Amino acid sequence: MAADRTRPIGVFDSGVGGLSVLRALQAELPLERFVYVADNGHAPYGERDDAHVLRRSHAIADYLIASHGIKALVVACNTATAAAIHALRTTYPDLPIIGIEPALKPAVALSKTGVIGVMATRGTLHSEKFRKLLSSLDGKGHFVLQACDGLADAIENSDNERVLGLCRSYTTGMGAFGTQAGQMDCLVLGCTHYSFAANVLQTLIGAEVPLLEGGVSVARQTRRLLEQLKPSSLGLPRPWSSAQSQAPIFYSTGKLELLESAVRRWLQMDDRATLLNV
Ligand code: DGL
Repeated sequence: MAADRTRPIGVFDSGVGGLSVLRALQAELPLERFVYVADNGHAPYGERDDAHVLRRSHAIADYLIASHGIKALVVACNTATAAAIHALRTTYPDLPIIGIEPALKPAVALSKTGVIGVMATRGTLHSEKFRKLLSSLDGKGHFVLQACDGLADAIENSDNERVLGLCRSYTTGMGAFGTQAGQMDCLVLGCTHYSFAANVLQTLIGAEVPLLEGGVSVARQTRRLLEQLKPSSLGLPRPWSSAQSQAPIFYSTGKLELLESAVRRWLQMDDRATLLNV
């Protein structure tokens, strides 16, 4: 049992976007260790086909299970959740697997105008999973959907000028944001990368329109699932825990410096990343 407590939780995304989820996971589960894989050598996922995302998700899950003995897997990517979570759960039936989906349900609960903006990748918006989510909310709101080609890539590369230009053109194209009748009074960030453009987006759409992200619910769901399914695997407070250190381990399948600088910037940690060839 003690060994189980020190097993890490695996987290992956196509790149740095999942760090927004990792941040929430660290706050919710401060005694756990995390292994984070940024698959930026094979990104963006949102503009590739499902077969690619499925292959990559399995390759990463196989690696995390075989080399790190993870006790749970968090798919910190809306696009990979939509394309691969069912297949992953079928392939690894004993592993708790937690995914992320655009926060449409919280937006419906929050919206007064009933008009909700949704920014996500093309892959997420065209997925069967998203179609089902939309139809489960039929009649509960009007959703203005925007596929944001290039935005995850611009954020991944910290190309601030391109981030601003794309955010401006996408939000302008979506229509009016605000609290008046007919205006979008919530904006759902349906891609984990977009959290890192939150300041830019907030400036463009106005401070009165909330941005909804899924990281905190994913973190809560991860804790609930572990408590329910594997209570004996939860981390213990140090010094009783035999964990050496709670610092996450970072891997990238592409440019290490992109992940390292995002970790510095968004998590205020100075950790190094290791190149992963899977
Ligand atoms: N961060 C991923 C998501 O949440 C997508 C980024 C990409 O297109 O690779 O959808």
